[in-house]
Amino acid sequence: MRYAAITGWGMSVPERVLTNADLERMVDTSDEWIVSRTGIRERRVVGPDDSTTSLSAAAARQALARADLTPDEIDLIVVATCTPDQFVVSEACLVQAELGGRAAAFDVGAACSGFVYALSVASLFVQHGIHERVLVIGADTLTRFVDYTDRSTCILFGDGAGAVVLEASDEPRGLLSTVLGADGAGNRHLYAPGWGAVVPESAALFPEFRPYLQMNGQEVFRFAVRAMGDAAAEAVERAGLGFGDVEMLIPHQANARIIDAAARRLDLPLEKVWSNLDRYGNTSAASVPIALAEAEATGRFAEGDNLVLVAFGAGLSWAAGVVRWGIAGVKRTVPPGGVGTAVDGGGRRIATGAAANGRAVEVAGV
Ligand code: COA
Repeated sequence: MRYAAITGWGMSVPERVLTNADLERMVDTSDEWIVSRTGIRERRVVGPDDSTTSLSAAAARQALARADLTPDEIDLIVVATCTPDQFVVSEACLVQAELGGRAAAFDVGAACSGFVYALSVASLFVQHGIHERVLVIGADTLTRFVDYTDRSTCILFGDGAGAVVLEASDEPRGLLSTVLGADGAGNRHLYAPGWGAVVPESAALFPEFRPYLQMNGQEVFRFAVRAMGDAAAEAVERAGLGFGDVEMLIPHQANARIIDAAARRLDLPLEKVWSNLDRYGNTSAASVPIALAEAEATGRFAEGDNLVLVAFGAGLSWAAGVVRWGIAGVKRTVPPGGVGTAVDGGGRRIATGAAANGRAVEVAGV
């Protein structure tokens, strides 16, 4: 059986920091209110030279370097975003243009649930033997669409990108289970009017038209706690595991109270729940891969450990999956006459093989 192991990962956020004190000067709010209601202290926002593409490419380069691969060796790029730099062409094509290579490229749209959706789609391409190496990116620049006069939404969002590289493995690594869901009728609770093809007409009819993010915070809050808890529990069950087998829950970073409530619903101690919300706010599709990259850097999980990724977002949508960390069973074929290297998840060289007599050699993972 083929699996899709995560062999590289990376993240990128803009340099500019927007603190709660900055927001106090922009809208009627306070650091105390924001921290107690959301857990957010600061977030990163794009500047004039940043874009969804530039953040995505930076995260992707890190992930590729960690996997010891070049863009030419990638077969497919999948980008999860709801803030592409252009609607035509896909964000994935813009990223490919930036990185180089000739990978197939397409976007997945599931708002803040997007990265987990994209990971599940991309994993299928690897599991079914259609592609060997896939780059999956979650990236958003929602602050470009946030109304900085609306205190109920402008405090929540930040920008960023996270990326992973998937490679075929014959050991159970990468996504072991997936739970995807949506309640389209709930679209009215979190949406941005007129970013799509209806804009010209709407804009003509309503000159005061404001294409900013609209949100019913309380409704989304209630939905989020239920959706994250239920999806995570189902993903663990579908993987044939219990929460005792899970090293860490990596949830979408939207609100600390939502994360705490979901963890309580799962009876999971908070030490097992990753959060970096205080520094980045809600980065939409980037939140889970950024959290994954930062959690890995702490050394809290290693080869063979089980992680639960879970997200919710506009749609309304939700997504969860169990990921078994590590690269056991990943093999790289060295081209005839060439020399190849296998690296472990930390970028360390673990095996080198050289092709002899024009025959390819396989360099196995750990
Ligand atoms: N600063 C100060 N007061 C604020 C405020 C701010 N930034 N934003 C809202 N308020 C006020 C409201 O106007 C309201 O005042 P009122 O009682 O005088 O009418 C009061 O605070 C309570 O508002 P409420 O909406 O009930 O607050 P809340 O506890 O539900 O917190 C959210 C608001 C947005 C933080 C919370 O609902 C939330 O996080 N929801 C989920 C949103 C989310 O995750 N969206 C992204 C999904 S991917």
